Amino acid sequence: MQSIAGPDVPTQRPDDPPVDETLRPPLVKFHAPEVVFGLGSLGEAGFSAARLGARRPMVVTDPGVIEAGWCDELLGHLAGSRLTPVVWSDVTPNPKDHEIHAAYERYVEEGCDVLIALGGGSCIDAAKGVAILSGNGGQILDYGGVDLVAKPIPPLLMIPSTSGTGADVSQFCIVTDTARSVKITIMGRALVPDISITDPRLLVTMPEWLNAATGLDALTHGIESFVSLAHNPLADIHALNAVGLVCQNLRTTILRPTEEGARSKMAQASLNAGLAFTNAILGATHAMSHQVGGMLDLPHGVVNGVLLPHVIRFNGAELPERFVPIAQAMGLDVVGAPPDEAVERVAEAVRALGDEVGVPRGLGALGVRAEDIPRLSELTLSDACLTTNPRQTSVEDVMAMFRAAL
Ligand SMILES: NC(=O)c1ccc[n+]([C@@H]2O[C@H](COP(=O)([O-])OP(=O)(O)OC[C@H]3O[C@@H](n4cnc5c(N)ncnc54)[C@H](O)[C@@H]3O)[C@@H](O)[C@H]2O)c1
Ligand SMILES: [Fe+2]
Repeated sequence: MQSIAGPDVPTQRPDDPPVDETLRPPLVKFHAPEVVFGLGSLGEAGFSAARLGARRPMVVTDPGVIEAGWCDELLGHLAGSRLTPVVWSDVTPNPKDHEIHAAYERYVEEGCDVLIALGGGSCIDAAKGVAILSGNGGQILDYGGVDLVAKPIPPLLMIPSTSGTGADVSQFCIVTDTARSVKITIMGRALVPDISITDPRLLVTMPEWLNAATGLDALTHGIESFVSLAHNPLADIHALNAVGLVCQNLRTTILRPTEEGARSKMAQASLNAGLAFTNAILGATHAMSHQVGGMLDLPHGVVNGVLLPHVIRFNGAELPERFVPIAQAMGLDVVGAPPDEAVERVAEAVRALGDEVGVPRGLGALGVRAEDIPRLSELTLSDACLTTNPRQTSVEDVMAMFRAAL
């Protein structure tokens, strides 16, 4: 079974000479889909789906993406490869368990063979959910946790329209348990998509709030994966690159939404951040954010943006050194400064970026009440993302962070 804390490392035999652990390079496994990236790359979709064996693919999308015109364009490309797709568009943000079951029923009725997601993280996760049911049966909520998807799943072609969740390259699938109003995390290498097509043109139709939210999500992925217990040198490069790209380009995409250069950089930030966190996993910000998002059906990136500075201060109080390269990637001048100063500068810079792009300062403005904090904190402790947070986190610690973020 895959350990959430990272790849398995060969153990030392009793007779072996002592090993200086600091000199031993870590054993690293790095997973990633085939990536097609660039302006106009949506045109590759028909060929890519056909290569995955599609004849009757299911396109999982939502009304906002259809209205923006991207679904029609995709269907044209699929028709060009002589495919006869079925479109499923009953997905809502923070995809719900029953939506995935309904989509799966249709997938079976229509005899579909490949899943194509076109949309933000919600459509991508809904498509992964259908694939899990197709290969493994049962209820989608049965798969919450690590590596519970044991049987192979149908091929996945992912086309993100936000920048970004990184769900198009990740081994995660986040589903709302509607009975309990919480989001569950399904995780495992079986969920890494086969092909990801990132066409930055799709980002231009995002509303401004979504651009801001998903940009902060990508920033959170970069920072949390870089300090994660499961971080490794291959993932670190992607994490730091993502942090730099978001800090250099998110503001521009809001000030000049049609500028292709900045959109392409944000698309790359999303991709880099996704490659980082799918390999290095995440931390307390996501563990806490999933609970808030599940309870109030809120935009994931907005909740992350509010929580992130508080988690940075909590983790940085014990492990400040990892925040120095992050500060440098953000363009902050921390040369010669003590690491704890870098921690505070990073936390302040994240908050300042949130202010600039219009993210509320506290969870209270999003509808969280003080009396919700004990339940949210209890639920946080069982989220898979907390396992790799670099600092041991008790329920009291989580409550203190929620209170500070209120
Ligand atoms: N699986 C993972 O690895 C992972 C990682 C992070 C977040 N997530 C999940 O992703 C979800 C959030 O996804 P999201 O933030 O990308 O947004 P989303 O998919 O929830 O979409 C939000 C809204 O934006 C609209 N929209 C999306 N792209 C658009 C475009 N280009 N033009 C116009 N409208 C557009 C949609 O129609 C929808 O109404 C959450 O459920 C979160 O938990 C998953
Ligand atoms: Fe996220």
